[in-house]
Amino acid sequence: MGLVIATVNMKGGVGKTTLTVNLATCLAKNHGKRVLVLDLDTQISATLSLLPPHEFAKIRREKRTLGQLLYKLIKPNSRIKRTTPEAIKSDVCEVKGLDLLPGDIDLYDEYLVSELLHNKAVNGDNCDFSDVWNGFEEQLIQSILEPVIDEYDFILLDCAPGYNLLTRSGIVASDFYLLPARPEPLSVVGIQLLQRRIAHLKESYGDDSTIKTQLLGIVFILSSGGLFDRYYKQVMQRVTGEFSPTELFDNRIPMDVNVAKAVDYFMPAVLATPNSSGSKAFAKLTEEVIQKVAHPERLSQSTPNEMSLANLE
Ligand SMILES: Nc1ncnc2c1ncn2[C@@H]1O[C@H](COP(=O)(O)OP(=O)(O)O)[C@@H](O)[C@H]1O
Ligand SMILES: [Mg+2]
Repeated sequence: MGLVIATVNMKGGVGKTTLTVNLATCLAKNHGKRVLVLDLDTQISATLSLLPPHEFAKIRREKRTLGQLLYKLIKPNSRIKRTTPEAIKSDVCEVKGLDLLPGDIDLYDEYLVSELLHNKAVNGDNCDFSDVWNGFEEQLIQSILEPVIDEYDFILLDCAPGYNLLTRSGIVASDFYLLPARPEPLSVVGIQLLQRRIAHLKESYGDDSTIKTQLLGIVFILSSGGLFDRYYKQVMQRVTGEFSPTELFDNRIPMDVNVAKAVDYFMPAVLATPNSSGSKAFAKLTEEVIQKVAHPERLSQSTPNEMSLANLE
């Protein structure tokens, strides 16, 4: 069964998508893994990092996106027949084993979800609303992955910023979550808040929780040069005090203009400019990811650091 890794951070613009697509590409290209990227963000950045816009437009016209699969689950009486394998685009960027389940600019309608859950609670055998809610959240992404999970070694979920239904459902379906962050003081608070939310999510599913997700690690994305170097050195010292070494990836990703520019070529930087500093860092990080998933027992339990958060309450 494929390992499911969700890339999450409630902040936007921290490098979630860039990390997801470059990691996915390195796993397929450098390590021969079968990889599926699922774009859970209506900004469709992961999709447009792996496909040119005209190809996406064609796929959308053919209704082969995640949006259709979600709509089928949210509106069970609709006539949509689309299945997960039919929506997957194989060997994107001409990399063997690199597949994409394209996202969509509309993914789900909150009103329809509310209506569905309300009807289930009123008409079903189980009228405990929190059970209905959790059941739906638990099944949503899992049921989309279920038909193809055995076909892959890795399934990477590119989550939207915030903490919406798809992010939660992705976390519930995942074995690990990966947390890209900038080494800034408020980012550190953000990481701890997310860890706390995930701990609450696990609690809401009960003690014998079906949620197995573990923090795979925090990946720092660093700007460099002059004053940044000195400032980040200070912040990194604080960061290492806040988190245990097993929570942090040794490899960090430098800010590299080649990484940002790669989007113009509709491919990840590791393909467009493989020798750039950013691409080399993604390749090293991928090796670390492979080692980490092979030894989940060495990962620390992601308990929120109450000492720091206590200051907020
Ligand atoms: N290592 C990097 N070097 C240079 N630019 C980067 C790097 N990582 C991300 N970016 C750029 O930062 C912006 C936000 O990154 P993105 O991955 O879309 O963040 P998120 O998915 O968290 O919103 C994008 O323009 C992206 O190209
Ligand atoms: Mg993104």
